[in-house]
Amino acid sequence: MERSEYIEFLLDHYNNPRNRGAIDDPDILVNGGNPGCGDVVSMYLKVDDDNRVADVKFEGKGCTISMAGASLITEMVMGKTLQEIEEMPYADLIDQMGEDVVKSRLRCATLGIDTLKGAAREYPSRKAVGQKLIQPIVLAHTLSTD
Ligand code: FES
Repeated sequence: MERSEYIEFLLDHYNNPRNRGAIDDPDILVNGGNPGCGDVVSMYLKVDDDNRVADVKFEGKGCTISMAGASLITEMVMGKTLQEIEEMPYADLIDQMGEDVVKSRLRCATLGIDTLKGAAREYPSRKAVGQKLIQPIVLAHTLSTD
């Protein structure tokens, strides 16, 4: 795609966010934040017995790229296992957002995916002791592995 098409794609996700909202009685609710600017995203998930995402929604307040990235990543992780989310390369998301468009804004672009990766990493240990993962703010960019 051309750069202008990626920008149009991101604006569409920002203006018409997919899977925006809350889930009643989620198995997972984690809040990520970008310490540099204060933008925040909350990720709600329902997870089946195989640790596969049965439903995911997000709420948040932030820049165009962070909210577009959060919207897009909810589409990308639907039906995936938490392990697959944990192992998902950042490039899978960045490529879809247009590397050239977001390369100077990677912290914005990865706010949603980092928040989900943090949830994916921590949920199995909570589940093992019969708990959900309902967390206060997680600073997303302390979770990044790259
Ligand atoms: Fe805050 Fe983009 S400026 S996440």
